Amino acid sequence: MAEVRAATPADIADAAELMVAAHRNHFPWLAARDPAASRARFQQRFQDGWQRLTVIGPIGQLDGLLERRGGYINLLFVRTPGAGTGTKLLRAGEAAGAWALECFVANERAQAFYRREGWVESSRYLRPFYGEVHQFLEFRRR
Ligand SMILES: CC(C)(COP(=O)(O)OP(=O)(O)OC[C@H]1O[C@@H](n2cnc3c(N)ncnc32)[C@H](O)[C@@H]1OP(=O)(O)O)[C@@H](O)C(=O)NCCC(=O)NCCS
Repeated sequence: MAEVRAATPADIADAAELMVAAHRNHFPWLAARDPAASRARFQQRFQDGWQRLTVIGPIGQLDGLLERRGGYINLLFVRTPGAGTGTKLLRAGEAAGAWALECFVANERAQAFYRREGWVESSRYLRPFYGEVHQFLEFRRR
């Protein structure tokens, strides 16, 4: 299986594509978005901060990505859930100092995953997310 590695600029397009597919496939509670606009937004985000990305998989065929700013995990997404990829990425993030992240309250499977990995809920709150207000919870590493 592919190893966790730091991203390079060559990963930007594939990382954006992975995010568009993951939002479409796993976040049915979000309003449908124009995939081209969504792709462009993630491309820009990763263009501006590809150094924040830890990835797994070869260039052009990423299996997953983690975006971290200091101790905060902003994104953790895999292409094919249930294959251990998310566990590897999360543990790499922890090893690099991550101690907090947020998750949609609606995302019960991800919550089970974080709890299994020893993270605990620290708060619940509403906040805007691209034009809609959603309920989130914050997890902290125990
Ligand atoms: C949450 C996520 C990062 C976990 O990574 P993963 O590679 O699927 O996780 P692993 O294979 O290492 O561990 C499997 C566990 O993940 C959890 N999980 C979360 N979403 C899952 C899904 N869609 N399918 C299967 N397992 C899922 C389950 O708790 C599972 O445990 P189980 O096997 O006891 O049921 C990944 O499933 C994912 O990208 N999901 C969609 C996007 C998402 O929710 N990201 C997190 C945003 S906060």
